[in-house]
Amino acid sequence: MKKNVISEKQLSAEAACDYVKDGMIVGLGTGTTAEFAVRKIGKLVRDGLSIRGIPTSNRTKELAEAEGIPLIDFSESMFIDLTIDGADEIDGNLNMIKGGGAALLQEKIVASVSRAEIIVVNRTKLVDQLGVFPLPVEVIPFGWQVVFNQLESLHGNPDLRLNKGKPLVTDQGNYIIDCHFRKIENPKLLEHQLNMIPGVVENGLFINLCTKMIIADGEQLTVKDRN
Ligand code: 5RP
Repeated sequence: MKKNVISEKQLSAEAACDYVKDGMIVGLGTGTTAEFAVRKIGKLVRDGLSIRGIPTSNRTKELAEAEGIPLIDFSESMFIDLTIDGADEIDGNLNMIKGGGAALLQEKIVASVSRAEIIVVNRTKLVDQLGVFPLPVEVIPFGWQVVFNQLESLHGNPDLRLNKGKPLVTDQGNYIIDCHFRKIENPKLLEHQLNMIPGVVENGLFINLCTKMIIADGEQLTVKDRN
C-alpha cells in the first residue's frame, strides 16, 4: 500500500516536470510529492536544461542545491513562470489546504506570483469539501494564546503544533496552530477571517491559486485545469 502511494506521488510530480521549459523561473514546492519534482528538475538541469528556481522552504532549498539547480530570490525576479507543489487537500474547484509540512507562508507567497501553479497529488488528496485535514494557521510567537482563543471562537478546535514537545518553529520563526473545522463551507471567507486576526501571518487555505492539478491514481494520470 505504502509503495503504491509513493509511486503515485512520483508519477504526478514527474508528469508536471514536462511543463518546465528552458529559461523559466520555477517555484520549487515542499513535501514528499514536490520533492520528486525537485529531483527530476535536478536531473533535467544536469542534462542541460537552463532554469532558475525559487524554493518554498529551507528543506527544498537544501535539496535543490544538492541537485545542482541554480537558485534566485525575489530580488532578481518578482514573478515565477511555473510552480510545482503538493497539497494536503484539494477540491473540485482546485482550492486547497496546504501547510502540512509547515511551509505554507513561503508556498503562498510563491503561488501568489506564479503564472502557473501545478499541484501534484495522488487520489487520496482529492475531497468534495475542504476541512478534514487540519487547517494550519501560522502565527507569530508573541500572543499566540490570544490567536488560539480567537480560533476557538471560530469553532476551529485549534491545536498548537508541537515538535518533540515544544512548539514547532517555522522557517520564518513562527508557530503553527492546526484547526479542525471538519467542513469548510466557505473557504474564501474563512481565509479572510483568519488573516484578519492580529498575530496571524497566513493560513493554509489556497484559493484560486492552483491553475492545474495532476492526480495520480495507480498508474492513471488525470490533468484538470482551473475553469
Ligand atoms: C508543505 C505542503 C505540502 O505540499 C503538503 O503538506 C503535501 O505534502 P506531501 O506531498 O508530503 O503529502 O503544503 O507545507
